[in-house]
Amino acid sequence: MTEIPEHLLKRSKERRASLGDGDAGAAPSTATPATVAASTPAVAAKAAAPAKSTPAVAKPPKPDPHYITAAKTRKRIPFWAMATLSLLPIWGFMYVQGLKPETKVVAGPIGSGQKIYSSCASCHLANGAGGSGRSFQAGSLQKTFPHIEDQLNLVYTGSQAYRDTNVGPYGDASRGHLGYNGAYMPAQKANLTEAEILAVVCHERYDLAGVSPEDPKWAAEYTKWCSPDSAIYAGLEDGSLTFDNLSEKVADVLPVGTVPRAGTAAG
Ligand code: HEC
Repeated sequence: MTEIPEHLLKRSKERRASLGDGDAGAAPSTATPATVAASTPAVAAKAAAPAKSTPAVAKPPKPDPHYITAAKTRKRIPFWAMATLSLLPIWGFMYVQGLKPETKVVAGPIGSGQKIYSSCASCHLANGAGGSGRSFQAGSLQKTFPHIEDQLNLVYTGSQAYRDTNVGPYGDASRGHLGYNGAYMPAQKANLTEAEILAVVCHERYDLAGVSPEDPKWAAEYTKWCSPDSAIYAGLEDGSLTFDNLSEKVADVLPVGTVPRAGTAAG
């Protein structure tokens, strides 16, 4: 059993006495100065003792084992590899760039139409799948408008004008398109130029509707109106052609016009 040092025993006795423990004996207050005085030098001596022994305990550091020394002195990257390694970030950048899909720059009306369409996407969705109007997809637009001229007229005048002037459905009348779910297509004549209207209509017909410009049924229309070297698009852009004079100036086109008019059926 370990012995409890004398001064600690004394201290606990005093503590009990000061708390009013009966058997601590008389006059605990007089004992206090004596014990404190007695114990203090002893405590001080004990505290000083380990400080004295410290220099004896400190040993010289052990030498590193040989494998640590080897690791410390080994050159990590050979200098000739530095040139290659410093190019790694550039290689990484090029690799990531290569993974990104190529963004095609499309010339002519379809290219500008893609940008203009962002103002239509709020109602018709980015892919023309529906929204507040009917879907454009799966050739649906070509069925409603077998002639692009009719679609140009609708976008220019808006569909409410068809209702207001009692023209009836826009495009091919047999489709019966007017007032879809009670909503009408807003006129674009104040928002877009005629060239811009052709551009966005080309994007709708040849991107969103999913009809290929090479489809034999539509190739002639595409070349004439929507190809990068369309003379009609160029004429609308420079103002030599307008929706009102197109059919007089260009062979084999229907009047587009700037007021709602009955559409044409296929054939
Ligand atoms: C505020 C909503 C809204 C915006 C914006 C809008 N449209 Fe429409 N669009 C409609 C609605 C509604 C209809 C259906 C009209 C109807 O049935 O009378 C429609 C119908 C159409 C149609 C006929 C589709 C069919 O098969 O019947 C075309 C083409 C069209 N929009 C093109 C456009 C273009 C191009 C733009 C942008 C320049 C545009 N729309 C912007 C609401 C909108």
